[in-house]
Amino acid sequence: MRKPIIAGNWKMNKTRDEALQFIYAVNMDLPSREYVETVICPQAPVLRDLVKRQGEALRIGAQTMHEATDGAYTGEISAALLENLGVDYVIIGHSERREYFGDTDARVNLKLHQAFRHHLTPILCIGEQLEDRENDATETVVGTQLDAALKGLGKDQIEHLVIAYEPVWAIGTGKTATIEQAEATIAFIRRRITETIDEAVADKVRILYGGSVNPDNLPALLKTPNIDGALIGGASLSAKAFIQMADAALNR
Ligand code: 13P
Repeated sequence: MRKPIIAGNWKMNKTRDEALQFIYAVNMDLPSREYVETVICPQAPVLRDLVKRQGEALRIGAQTMHEATDGAYTGEISAALLENLGVDYVIIGHSERREYFGDTDARVNLKLHQAFRHHLTPILCIGEQLEDRENDATETVVGTQLDAALKGLGKDQIEHLVIAYEPVWAIGTGKTATIEQAEATIAFIRRRITETIDEAVADKVRILYGGSVNPDNLPALLKTPNIDGALIGGASLSAKAFIQMADAALNR
């Protein structure tokens, strides 16, 4: 049995005060980490504040990091600093980073290597555009992103990786992929890992769905055989909704 993960990607939302309010509101009400991993990824300047107050169950993740060890990259964040702050997860290759900030497949691969060097658990995001889906190219696009991302990683690393399948057309649009679409593509990702790495690794890796997930549509997604949780944007900004979604993972 793979342990479910409920991860909130806050994107560029919440002030420090709002972030602290959220933490205090959820801390006592989240399921134990023995059964569900819960993660919040806030804006970088509040990472340390949240790590210090993360409670028993919750863990904190960053939304991105740079692939270089250190150096002249104004505005960027190193994996070494994230590790030093006590951050446990890092989202890598989110479609918004790919679209606006130059996260190519090659850079995503370098970032994964760098994240593992610093003992961070990467949440690797992959997903197709609407045009790809309409052209029946979903598996080609997602397969290519996956192969490129995993290049050169060891089996021991890949089995600890978290993958988030986020169809770009379902992000922030209120348009969730159907359960069948989400399950079929996530099953494809697992098969691809069986083919390119091996079955034991494919059985262990957690694969999440992301794209307009909320407390209403999450339970059905979690009933599928291959979906191990969710990466949630908008709905994760509400403490109440976040607790409901963590409970849904506990009771799936
Ligand atoms: P929404 O849940 O707001 O659609 O965002 C999904 C997402 O991009 C999470 O990383």
